Amino acid sequence: MKSISLLSSLFLAVAGLALLGTTAVRAAEEIDAATKAKIAEFDKGPTKIDVSAYPAGLQKNYEVFRERCVLCHTLARPISSDFALPGEWSRYVKRMMHKPGAKISDANAKKIYQFLAYDSMVRKKALFDAKLAQATPEEQAETDAKIKEILAAYPQK
Ligand code: HEC
Repeated sequence: MKSISLLSSLFLAVAGLALLGTTAVRAAEEIDAATKAKIAEFDKGPTKIDVSAYPAGLQKNYEVFRERCVLCHTLARPISSDFALPGEWSRYVKRMMHKPGAKISDANAKKIYQFLAYDSMVRKKALFDAKLAQATPEEQAETDAKIKEILAAYPQK
């Protein structure tokens, strides 16, 4: 009798842990109603960016972005997104590349990130500046370093 109850409590403990695990994963993956509504608005925005004045290498990266980021939703979604700082984009591109079926290599993820970070600085300058002004000194220094790195990799002719 004793060994059976030991076994069943062991079973319950394992089942409980498994349940806890899935709920934690769900909580991290799920998005709330307000975010869903915001995303639905993004989807109605423009579907292309005029990159004719961007450095040549970043114009190429734009093509990678156009190819890779339309597999699951419109391109309008990232184009109208309110992410602007390089840190926000690097986190988000990682999130997207880890979604099942994303087919985004590390090299392409980097190109897309560089494009989006540069594009936000130019095309969404007001939002970029506002977010930067609100960021912590550490985030500001990090943003500076990331932007310098991109500008050095893609010099404007
Ligand atoms: C495998 C499918 C898939 C691919 C590929 C994909 N996305 Fe997404 N994306 C999603 C889903 C699903 C959502 C809804 C939010 C969530 O579940 O994270 C989303 C939401 C978004 C949002 C809105 C987030 C917000 O909270 O405002 C942005 C921006 C975005 N994606 C950008 C990108 C970019 C940039 C790429 C290319 C690197 C990309 N996506 C590629 C599936 C994908």
